[in-house]
Amino acid sequence: MTRYREFHRRSIEAPDAFWRDEAARIHWHTPFETVLDRSNPPFARWFTGGRTNLCHNAVDRHLADRPQQQALIYISTETGIERRYTYAELYAEVNRMAAVMRSLGVARGDRVLIYLPMIPEAMFAMLACARLGAIHSVVFGGFAAPNLAARIDDAKPVLIVTADAGARGGKVIDYAPLIDEALSRAAHKTPHVLMIDRQLAPEKFSAPYLLDYEPLREQFFDAHVPCEWLESNEPSYVLYTSGTTGRPKGVQRDVGGYAVALAASMEYIFEGRAGDTMFTASDIGWVVGHSYIIYAPLIAGLTTVMYEGTPIRPDGGIWWRLVEQYKINLMFTAPTALRVLKKQDPALMKAADLSSLRTLFLAGEPLDEPTAAWVSQSLGKPVVDNYWQTETGWPILAIQRGVEALTPKLGSPGVPVYGYNVTLRDEVTGEPCAPGEKGVITLAYPLPPGCMSTVWGDDARFVDTYWSSVPNQTVYSTFDWGVQDETGYVTILGRTDDVINVAGHRLGTREIEEALSGHNAVAEVAVVGVNDPVKGQAALAFTVLRDADRYASDEARAKLEAELTATVDRQLGSIARPARVHIVSMLPKTRSGKLLRRAIAALAEGRDPGDLPTIEDPAALQQIRDALQASAPR
Ligand code: PRX
Repeated sequence: MTRYREFHRRSIEAPDAFWRDEAARIHWHTPFETVLDRSNPPFARWFTGGRTNLCHNAVDRHLADRPQQQALIYISTETGIERRYTYAELYAEVNRMAAVMRSLGVARGDRVLIYLPMIPEAMFAMLACARLGAIHSVVFGGFAAPNLAARIDDAKPVLIVTADAGARGGKVIDYAPLIDEALSRAAHKTPHVLMIDRQLAPEKFSAPYLLDYEPLREQFFDAHVPCEWLESNEPSYVLYTSGTTGRPKGVQRDVGGYAVALAASMEYIFEGRAGDTMFTASDIGWVVGHSYIIYAPLIAGLTTVMYEGTPIRPDGGIWWRLVEQYKINLMFTAPTALRVLKKQDPALMKAADLSSLRTLFLAGEPLDEPTAAWVSQSLGKPVVDNYWQTETGWPILAIQRGVEALTPKLGSPGVPVYGYNVTLRDEVTGEPCAPGEKGVITLAYPLPPGCMSTVWGDDARFVDTYWSSVPNQTVYSTFDWGVQDETGYVTILGRTDDVINVAGHRLGTREIEEALSGHNAVAEVAVVGVNDPVKGQAALAFTVLRDADRYASDEARAKLEAELTATVDRQLGSIARPARVHIVSMLPKTRSGKLLRRAIAALAEGRDPGDLPTIEDPAALQQIRDALQASAPR
């Protein structure tokens, strides 16, 4: 471990020298003056005074060396469309999009909300924003209108870029009515909405505010839009994520630090070299998509594969065939997808020539040992689990094979990544844990380049949420439990807060509770995450009704449950839909009225909830047990 240890030690003890070297990986229009400005902790400003541009680094810079290399391979198994773009073609498309945006008044510092399915235009729109110095905020296409409205009101965009429809599992999802509803719900009035017409929606939606992209693209076909040279710490994007409250947080990212961090990660963690092909099966609505579908592979001169579809359509061999057909070298997905693939006919994997594939990367949720063992055996390639968050933008824990190919430990995403000063701490005292002791995973100041700069529009929330939760310490809390062994490997043991992870999607249980409370039958509700063999976790809801007598019959209860899950679909989107909504007459609470969520989750997973000396009425636990029992498969 000597090489890794020395590398990590230098990054922590001499961060200025370490990151000064790494900064040479990207193009600086104006060199930076200071590597790290620590004058206002816990805020860290990297590469101050330096001017650069993400789009220049991702696209323009490659025009000299690799204009004819594929930059993007787009495959949709939903529409049967395949499109390829060289770096020169990507440059042209991004310039067209940037020119259209500019003609609509988009300028440096403005926000552009992107609500798009997985289509090439999503990449063009993100890069066009980066080019103009506008701040993109991509909202996952599976989110429902009220969710979208909340993000519109927080980001206050000057433009929304959307499409007529998305597609998933063979079903077309009309976007225009969602946009229409979101716009009418939002207090902020967005001046323009640009629509990419995929001609998928069954009916043409025409609202006076909708602008069709295609004729505008034609109009600006030969446009060249210069890159805005941004100061390294200007915002590049805002990406909303869930936390403890129902109000989503806008994670704000910088420009220079992010570019440097991603470029370095491509060598030390992903071992991706210019000319390689990388397939990250995620969505541009998530951080993995931002970092490893769009920015990192392009900055490093790779070919990135963007995929619309599921892993099992037309059949469970599709991803392996893509590896063969496009000679994919690096693949990155979430454990959920592998748990799905594990259930497919093994012949489907064996039939494909996977010789191009060097490494499989997995992140987003715990990688369970059986799945890890299955995939490494059947693939016969290194599998690199990596642990990180929307907030950090790139891995915190991983085996950094580009530094030293340490032996993986089953069930652990590995050791702290260079730049991250990781300490597990006692939840009550804030003191460091001994090896083998469970604690909160914390990061010392400063966070390395690329991590969130602040919460969009709310510096106080950044400090209060992330830097004030560990007693007696000013450290960043990941809100994850973990345990570290003597050699440094960390195992993740779940969240310390009310965030759950369903099929790799991060959801706040409070958001789901708020959606359910909106139904007038509901008096009180508790949502918890419980183990699920495929999705990692599933949400379960327990509700107390206002008028329980109305729902006495099984039929009335079943109808109500369907209505309640539909409410979540409408408010948040179907990804947040609870697996079950149970009806009880009281919820377990402390005498001071705090919901005992951990006790509910323990019962739902068949564990002992432990001693609960502060519980108001122990009968409430029995109610949860009864409800679970009544619904258990016989
Ligand atoms: O709980 C951890 C879990 O996912 C959370 C972050 O989710 P998100 O913001 O969507 O970012 C995902 C970026 C990969 C973490 O707080 N998590 C992420 N990766 C892992 C993980 N849990 C266990 N193992 C992982 N590799």
